Amino acid sequence: MADAGLMEKIVSLAKRRGFVFPGSEIYGGFAGVYDWGPYGVFLRENVVRTWERSMQEHDDIAFIDSGIFTAPEVWEASGHVSGFNDPLVECLSCHSKLRADHLLESIGINADEKMSEAELNELFDAARKDIVCPVCGKKQFGNVVQKNLMATSTLGRFSEEDKEVYLRAETAQGIYINYKNVLQTGFYKIPFGIAQVGKVFRNEISPRQFLFRKREFEQMEMQYFVRPSEAPAIYESWRAERMAYYDRLGIRPDHLRWKRHDNLVFYAKDAWDIQYEYPFGWGELEGLHYRGDYDLSQHQKFSGVDMSYRDEKVGGSFIPHVIEASVGVDRTVLMVLAEAYAEDEMNGETRVVMRFHPRIAPLKAAVFPLLKNKPELVAKAREVYDDLKKAVPYVIWDDNGNIGKRYRRQDEIGTPFCITIDFDTLGESPEKKDTVTLRRRDSGEQDRLSIKDAIETIKKAIA
Ligand code: GAP
Repeated sequence: MADAGLMEKIVSLAKRRGFVFPGSEIYGGFAGVYDWGPYGVFLRENVVRTWERSMQEHDDIAFIDSGIFTAPEVWEASGHVSGFNDPLVECLSCHSKLRADHLLESIGINADEKMSEAELNELFDAARKDIVCPVCGKKQFGNVVQKNLMATSTLGRFSEEDKEVYLRAETAQGIYINYKNVLQTGFYKIPFGIAQVGKVFRNEISPRQFLFRKREFEQMEMQYFVRPSEAPAIYESWRAERMAYYDRLGIRPDHLRWKRHDNLVFYAKDAWDIQYEYPFGWGELEGLHYRGDYDLSQHQKFSGVDMSYRDEKVGGSFIPHVIEASVGVDRTVLMVLAEAYAEDEMNGETRVVMRFHPRIAPLKAAVFPLLKNKPELVAKAREVYDDLKKAVPYVIWDDNGNIGKRYRRQDEIGTPFCITIDFDTLGESPEKKDTVTLRRRDSGEQDRLSIKDAIETIKKAIA
């Protein structure tokens, strides 16, 4: 269920607890860019690792890490220079730059992605009297203009020939231009895949919805190269695998759904998105696209390099078909934050708790000395902390404020376990010597366990 208030709470918690900060905030912000804070870095890392591991489970998937800068021809071949556009329209009253297709969508009209600028203007003109600016509420707009989304930079400093170059708008092109190199390593035969994770850049007209639509973001993409005859069955198995994958991040299946593309681009054979029910409504999380031989054929055409595959198994050669699984790191993190956010009652107080799956929680455990001004307690707690750190990554020391405050803070960071070292740990009651209190985030339950058992419990939960 869409819940705009929830989005505000997530944005505020993300800043307060060090997950995500607005980009360049001390200079008034920078639209479409956010910075990862201390716990956002760990959460993002756990999301990426989960994806990488799921791909590494396939022996036939190679990983690469290609450049952000590429020869400009890459983007001419891919069609991004001529066709990677979004339709922009300006509100003549408040001068906001808006997506014309989103405005049309707001009154129930779907603009086909393939429409020319003239066709879009015709559609927009017919509907203009009903379209309201979401920023100022007026109904005066200029003409629709197609704007290219490629971000550019200049390389070189000294000559007239300094080139304007594109920053990559997807990691997929880096995979296609290295497909032959990977094949020539000799370890891979069709069908096989190439995966990579990396930053991409897009001049989004209206970056919005926090991490959902950014100008600098990160993709996790896998391109699987197949025989044309085998493509439909392999596409179906990837679709099933990718949907099942989200269980690993602790996402409820009823918060995900399939959406087939209504209008396929001319080369695509089939295209489905996995959508998540974000606080603002259903939105694309991941694309599963059967792209035919378009990508490799285009690079063959523009580079002159033969991209065909000699098939030892069936004889002959062909240009492989591509099945793509592409998902954004930032949209995944936003989903994980939304899925985890909860408010409940504990000990008569309302608390905010991030119920991350322990595997992806940014911190796994916090260690508290009951009092920070008792050296013998602090020394014992340090010992436990050091032992725990050796067994479990992402552990934090917290001795700030009273225990209740420390619990609240760790609940908001989503730390699944807290360990408290008190006078009993030191042997005040001999039968409790070397035991600690292990407190569980979700239930608030506390167990008295030996130090060893407490560490084992945490290890087991994140395995
Ligand atoms: N190679 C295919 C491709 O780039 P896409 O649908 O444009 O397809 C793939 O992007 C994924 O990247 C999306 O499903 C989404 O998760 C993420 N993504 C796209 N645009 C984004 C943006 N502006 N901000 C954050 N994530 C974005």
